[in-house]
Amino acid sequence: MLRLFLSTLACLVTLASGLAFPGAVGFGSVATGGSTPFVVTSLADSGTGTFRDAVSVSGRNITFAVSGYIVLSSPVSLSSSITINGQTAPGNGIGVMGREISASGKNNIIIRNFRIRQGNVDSDTGKSAFNMGKASNVILDHCSVEYGVWDSIDAVGTANVTVSNSIIAYPIGQQFGAHLETGPATWYRNLWVSGHNRQPLTKANTQYINNIVYNYQAAYTVANTGGLFSHDIIGNYFIAGPSTTSANDDYFQMNANQKVFASGNFLDSNKNGALDGSAANSVGSAVVLSSAWNSGSVGLATLSPQSAYTTVLASVGASPRDEVDSFVISVVQSLGTKGAIVTNQASTGVSNNGYGSL
Ligand SMILES: *[C@@H]1O[C@H](CO)[C@@H](O)[C@H](O)[C@H]1NC(C)=O
Ligand SMILES: *[C@@H]1O[C@H](CO)[C@@H](O)[C@H](O)[C@H]1NC(C)=O
Repeated sequence: MLRLFLSTLACLVTLASGLAFPGAVGFGSVATGGSTPFVVTSLADSGTGTFRDAVSVSGRNITFAVSGYIVLSSPVSLSSSITINGQTAPGNGIGVMGREISASGKNNIIIRNFRIRQGNVDSDTGKSAFNMGKASNVILDHCSVEYGVWDSIDAVGTANVTVSNSIIAYPIGQQFGAHLETGPATWYRNLWVSGHNRQPLTKANTQYINNIVYNYQAAYTVANTGGLFSHDIIGNYFIAGPSTTSANDDYFQMNANQKVFASGNFLDSNKNGALDGSAANSVGSAVVLSSAWNSGSVGLATLSPQSAYTTVLASVGASPRDEVDSFVISVVQSLGTKGAIVTNQASTGVSNNGYGSL
């Protein structure tokens, strides 16, 4: 009775706060996901009780009774109003490998503690690890998105998005992180590692707060043809690695169509094995805003770039941390001496053809 009362209370509190889950931030936090319980009981690619089965009906709140990799032989399309609770998986957690997860054209999706690793097992080089083109009200939190082929995250025409506390690393193929158009979008406390460019590419009004970007060719990118957008870029740390040839491409393709509030960001360009950067708030030919375009941005930026580094590395990605994410973190911790932009996930040296085991 008490338990029922407490869970009802928790539910009411969540509803009252209007958040996807306690602690959800940014534009995607309006997502409410699904509420009909569904338990994934099989790691098989398809059939009763599989992940593919789970997401085929809208309104579901999905939990996992199995752990390990789900090896996909074709892309999986999510339905609208879905919650994926990866943190409920026993043991070492849950992930998918080999094909795209798509929320294309869908609405109202919450994904937490889920590993999405495409890789060159996917023969379709036009697909991404996670695609949410033309979707709306989507939040990814504590996810690990690696080995994307087209982009790690593709989000063209997507409204109300948050990606928070997530790893977006080691894209192969185009070697791009994320491409988002439309928005608004919030990128909060993510770790971007060994991507060539697009970390993210954003043609949208954007909040970019307490992110860590390591070993980039170009980091925060707006595109020359991007249109008129506003950007709050606060408390991020850009860190050069072995593949970084121009550390000053921390802000890339900035132009006079962009309005930017850049505050408290740091760049460590010297690849010397120590975190010893300096302020980096100069945004090229963009129009400089003297205050944030969004009234919530400054309140979200609770960490200095130095403490963002510590906090993000300690807690980012799907929990519990597995082989792939541990490798990614160890590369960042070299602070300039380790890391490569690769074309094949096996080049990471991680076991199981680069996927590790869960
Ligand atoms: C969905 O499932 C999770 C995990 O069991 C639970 O914490 C959450 O309250 C559920 N949400 C809804 C809306 O039913
Ligand atoms: C985005 O969120 C806002 C605020 O909750 C809402 O008014 C708007 O309808 C949402 N946009 C879409 C496309 O759902």
